[in-house]
Amino acid sequence: MKEESGCVLLSEYKNREFISALEREMTPEYRNLVQLVEDPKAAADDFSHLKLPESMAAVVLHRDEQEMFSGKAFCEKDPRQALHYEEVPVPVPGPGEVLVAVMASAVNFNNVWSSIFEPAPGFSYIADFARMRVENQKHQQDYHIIGGDAAGVVVRTHPSVHNWKPGDRVTLHGGVNDVSEPAVFYDSVQDPHGRAWGFETNFGAFAYFTVVQQHQLLPKAEHLSWEEAASMNLVTTTAYRMLVSDNGARMRQGDNVLIWGASGGLGSIAIQMVRNGGGVPIGIVSSEKKAAVVRKLGCERVIVLEREPGKDLFLDESGRTKGRQVLRLKALIRRLTDGEDCDIVFEHTGRSTFAASVAVAKAGGKVVTCGSTSGYNHVFDNRYFWQTVKKIIGSHGANYYEAAQAVRLICKGMLTPVLSEVYPLSRTADAIFKMHSGEQIGKLGILNLAPSERMGIRNRELREKIGEQRINILRTSLSGEGGAIC
Ligand SMILES: NC(=O)c1ccc[n+]([C@@H]2O[C@H](COP(=O)([O-])OP(=O)(O)OC[C@H]3O[C@@H](n4cnc5c(N)ncnc54)[C@H](OP(=O)(O)O)[C@@H]3O)[C@@H](O)[C@H]2O)c1
Repeated sequence: MKEESGCVLLSEYKNREFISALEREMTPEYRNLVQLVEDPKAAADDFSHLKLPESMAAVVLHRDEQEMFSGKAFCEKDPRQALHYEEVPVPVPGPGEVLVAVMASAVNFNNVWSSIFEPAPGFSYIADFARMRVENQKHQQDYHIIGGDAAGVVVRTHPSVHNWKPGDRVTLHGGVNDVSEPAVFYDSVQDPHGRAWGFETNFGAFAYFTVVQQHQLLPKAEHLSWEEAASMNLVTTTAYRMLVSDNGARMRQGDNVLIWGASGGLGSIAIQMVRNGGGVPIGIVSSEKKAAVVRKLGCERVIVLEREPGKDLFLDESGRTKGRQVLRLKALIRRLTDGEDCDIVFEHTGRSTFAASVAVAKAGGKVVTCGSTSGYNHVFDNRYFWQTVKKIIGSHGANYYEAAQAVRLICKGMLTPVLSEVYPLSRTADAIFKMHSGEQIGKLGILNLAPSERMGIRNRELREKIGEQRINILRTSLSGEGGAIC
């Protein structure tokens, strides 16, 4: 037992605390559902005829607490104060929607934003979403179930749904779209009514059930367990659009790709994608411990840049670019690349790093950005941009087609999970707090209805071919054989 971190080893996991918590919460209806999910002979009718519970456990924010952090700094806002684990009604699917029993889910940085009510409370996004169409009104509640990554089983479909049926084993895509919008048929990310599931809508992943639109469904990789499959979609689909898609940086063989936050969720998938595509990943991390993880993922070129809390890495107090720091970074990169600059900079870290990202990209190079962890008011020296004809590409999630292409790579085993820890649903707030503190590595998984880890694996042949070591690369390297459960 690892006393100091509150973690227990996998072998000790299937015991006391968690099992008894499940037994308390799981009524016979839930037990039957979990049994059916694990039965390889279960057919669509078995799921359709199964009596479903009326209420479920969920991790929620409360409308009357959305001002609780007013006036506090980012680091003072503790997600654990805002998140509640409680019983709420099971939602009912409307036109074009399905009800999914969530076996497992995963933490993403947007859960941090939701739980500290930044940049605005989720309730305001949901109010806007509810005004769009009558079917969305059910999302407006006094609670907000957050979460944007899940794997599970379809248990109910609205009669208007034809491509999917009860019993289908799925992972979920985060793009909620209005299919009456012309832009959706061009690129659903450009849908003016598009919303991020579980961030700007209700009924997110951290519950026993979720209601989603049929075009959020994607197949589950059957060589992966529920928690492994659940941990992959959001970061993989986002990185795919950023690096591979025609809408992103269109990485080519031999490209040098600078990856900020290389040991994080996006970064550790980006490393795999760059290597698969014949590029050269150069990872940036904040500690030697994280550098070791990144090397383990196959990124040989790593730069460690330590940060002081609350201070921008490349901007001085008056917001001007720290020229010397930028030149130092450029020199470090060149040392790792035989004197070359970066073709692509993979950005999501925001204000603190953006000025450097623009400056270190090669002439004609691209900075592709999907986020702003350290602040969204970016400042950069425009001379480094226009004179060397660089491009800045904005990217947000992925469209359904890009998401399907990315999930295909997961299903073929060409991208593997970067899960480092797994928590029970009741402790989701602790996992989100860990991400808020910047201490997590890779992805943090959550067990929703799955009573234990490593359930849901059907394609053992492919799993064996890829190897347990590779599938559990961050778990075995961080905590010894078997990984840790928190
Ligand atoms: N628009 C979209 O579709 C989309 C999708 C996914 C994620 N995002 C955004 O992308 C960001 C990253 O997401 P994630 O899931 O990869 O988060 P993550 O797992 O927490 O990883 C982020 C990494 O960034 C590094 N970092 C944090 N602050 C930094 C700073 N000031 N300077 C340099 N590095 C810093 C940290 O690594 P070190 O400690 O090693 O530096 C951390 O591991 C979040 O802001 C998220 O909201 C956007």
